Amino acid sequence: MSENISKKAFLEIDGKRIELPVLTASDGSQSVDVSKLYDSHGITTFDPSLNSTSICQSAITYIDGDKGTLCYRGIPIEQFDRPRPNFIEVSYLLIFGTLPTRQELTDFRNRLTSHELLHEGLRRQFGDVPPKSPPMAILSAMFSQLACYHEKFLPLGDEELFVEAATRLISKARTIAAYAYRRSQGLPFTYPDPALLYCANFLHLMFSIPYQQYIIGEEIESAMNLVLILHADHEQNCSTTAVRTVGSAKANLFAACAAGVSALWGPLHGGANVEVMKMLEKIYSGGMTAEDCIAAAKDKTNPFKLFGFGHRVYKNYDPRAKILQAAAERVFAQLRTNDPLLDIARKLEELTLKDSYFIDRKLYPNVDFYSGILLRAIGIPTNMFTVIFALGRLPGWIAQWKELHDSPSQKIMRPRQIYTGGIQKNYVPIEKRG
Ligand code: SDX
Repeated sequence: MSENISKKAFLEIDGKRIELPVLTASDGSQSVDVSKLYDSHGITTFDPSLNSTSICQSAITYIDGDKGTLCYRGIPIEQFDRPRPNFIEVSYLLIFGTLPTRQELTDFRNRLTSHELLHEGLRRQFGDVPPKSPPMAILSAMFSQLACYHEKFLPLGDEELFVEAATRLISKARTIAAYAYRRSQGLPFTYPDPALLYCANFLHLMFSIPYQQYIIGEEIESAMNLVLILHADHEQNCSTTAVRTVGSAKANLFAACAAGVSALWGPLHGGANVEVMKMLEKIYSGGMTAEDCIAAAKDKTNPFKLFGFGHRVYKNYDPRAKILQAAAERVFAQLRTNDPLLDIARKLEELTLKDSYFIDRKLYPNVDFYSGILLRAIGIPTNMFTVIFALGRLPGWIAQWKELHDSPSQKIMRPRQIYTGGIQKNYVPIEKRG
């Protein structure tokens, strides 16, 4: 990364005046570089949720939280919401930094197709997995296991080995995800169809039944591409930070992305899309009203959160939520159906837009609020929603892992702490402990 030091900042402590460099981002925002503060002065900064801390310089994804804009390699995500959205093209853009030429896209696609099968040893393991296993547990475990079957692609520092590992991971993740679903349904494992493009092949792997014709509607295939595109990267979110942290120890790509899956599973992060559906279904079934939901979310004595609302960075409408809502309405119109949960979601959003609790805290719908409704329209079951989020986020994790390793200044991440325990205590033999 270029050293974009333009200004200085000063820290005064114990009569000392410490000068610190200031780094300036592409949008003009500033960051005080404290990376040498501890070694030079024995002082640390304290920021437990890293809310005010930049952990890297990155050129992959840009978010303007106040304006509610999101760009992949500088391109606003609205521009990917086109008649035939293409998740693999966006994956290439995020990982390699430029939109692929026709030939580059064909070559990338062919690599993915050549890696769509799982090693039979890995496929057989699905038979031993309890049918009701959480699919995110399967995804994380199987990502790690790819290292057992593709050991020669683990070494770092070789571009060709990286591309082989990355394309194996993206392609096999789709097969693993579909097999986790089929295991839960007691369905036979279908094999990937090399004639199908990425999302169509995923839908085939998920839903086709042997010896029965399975037709994939163009609107459903496009919706699947769009959902994955909208989840593809989101700068330094919790799961990406997990991938970077694990990657900083020079752990292999499969292990780092397995860590990303585990972080994404959390209900405050990628797991929120499942919680949103549970919330909407509870309102639909009469278990509670939309007004009850709003009241519970505002009640500080109640741990209930309005899932799908609020965001650490967006203090405006999450642009992905807007696109997902419009896409859900488009798919319903094309399929001539509707989903009562969409009306409930709109009602909840309407109530928040008039409520000072949400307005004052700038809590707007985030990516998870409408994604589940679109996924349901595609036919994806609720317990697979976070898995779909992970499939979408995978090229982003891979791009961030690559950028980390391409950065000459990157070192192993090892934060400090503020120690608050006792010092110089003595061991007490058990006979003297009472
Ligand atoms: C994702 O980081 C990313 O980029 C993530 C992501 C990505 O693409 O990778 O965008 C994907 O994870 C989206 C977020 C999905 N999670 C949810 O929808 C869960 C519900 N949302 C909240 O848990 C919360 O909004 C977070 C976790 C998303 C953000 O939390 P912050 O930034 O730590 O904010 P906070 O919890 O400190 O909230 C500030 C105030 C608090 O009230 P006060 O103490 O000021 O009175 O807002 C309140 C919070 O109680 N608040 C909510 C709320 N979200 C925040 N109150 C009710 N319901 C909510 N959803």
